[in-house]
Amino acid sequence: MTVQFPLQPNPAPVSPERRAEIMADPGFGRYFTDHMARAVWTSDDGWRDGEVVPFGPIPMHPAAAVLHYAQEIFEGMKAYRHADGSIWSFRPEANGERFARSARRLALPELPLPAFTASVEALVRADRQWVPDEGEQSLYLRPFMFASEPFLGVRPAKEVTYMLIASPVGSYFSAGVKPVSIWLSSAYTRAARGGTGEAKCGGNYAASLAPMIEATEHGCEQVCFLDATHGRYVEELGGMNVYFVTADGRIVTPELGTILEGITRASILILAKELGLEVEERPVEIREWQEGVASGAITEVFACGTGAVVTPVGKLVWDGGEVTSPHAGADDSVTMRLRRHLVDIQYGRAADPYGWMTRLA
Ligand SMILES: Cc1ncc(COP(=O)(O)O)c(C=O)c1O
Repeated sequence: MTVQFPLQPNPAPVSPERRAEIMADPGFGRYFTDHMARAVWTSDDGWRDGEVVPFGPIPMHPAAAVLHYAQEIFEGMKAYRHADGSIWSFRPEANGERFARSARRLALPELPLPAFTASVEALVRADRQWVPDEGEQSLYLRPFMFASEPFLGVRPAKEVTYMLIASPVGSYFSAGVKPVSIWLSSAYTRAARGGTGEAKCGGNYAASLAPMIEATEHGCEQVCFLDATHGRYVEELGGMNVYFVTADGRIVTPELGTILEGITRASILILAKELGLEVEERPVEIREWQEGVASGAITEVFACGTGAVVTPVGKLVWDGGEVTSPHAGADDSVTMRLRRHLVDIQYGRAADPYGWMTRLA
């Protein structure tokens, strides 16, 4: 039977005045709604005890396996308010399926898709007042699952907790839709063949933080990782996939394998065809990026993901050089046209011919 998520209402929700204050400038991932969803899995009984409860700290045993061996996965998705007040999410089943794939890689139990969807619906309905109606704001949804069994042996946990929290958000980058600069990491890689690059697990992000410090030291906002075998092919950014637009009308993105299969990336592959662009998923050498931008063969570079939506890349910086895309973020660029199209679908301003939107409330 599908796990249900009955509501245990928060007796002391955030006041409407404070909520309005928060929603006037939410930032990214700083504030949280009045409730959270949770369920527990044990190897004996499977999934049970689904509920939506008041938001708050969770008791954690010091020996909980996640704290020691990082057996943990998460997802990131958004709820969007449309002009008529209804609330929708973008391809939530794709997040649910990726969550299940990540679970398999991290030896965690799969949360069945109906339970994943039920938790999202239940939380968004309970906290519907937290879904912003301003500009490009949304309610960021963060499902996650971790090994909660108190046990210090290294083996898959027999007790696992699933949770879903929500945070009203504005733009991922504090400067809004401005071209970002990227630091090319040569000292670090993100994923190797057979590793966890395709899974959305916390460890991948922990490992991206030291290179992120390097990026900041070089005046950049994001890191680009190269493949671990040759150190030659572009993989992805710390939390986004990457695309290149060529002067001869193609749009190119690194192939799947060791990168996270972004839902934004997959959607852009489809939307780009509508703009008449020829789509290519293939290995992209870092030299192609460096030389292509310098020569004009690559006219645009952009990053994409749920948080960043579609963000133009203005500059690539590496040890010993840099290259700048002069027209990054121009209003009539492919990047910005794709961005507008995607955002219009998400906010219900454009037709949704692919059935990507699901009504939550
Ligand atoms: C490493 C990484 N790559 C790519 C993406 C983009 O994935 P999606 O478009 O599903 O958000 C993300 C998450 O946003 C990510 O963390």
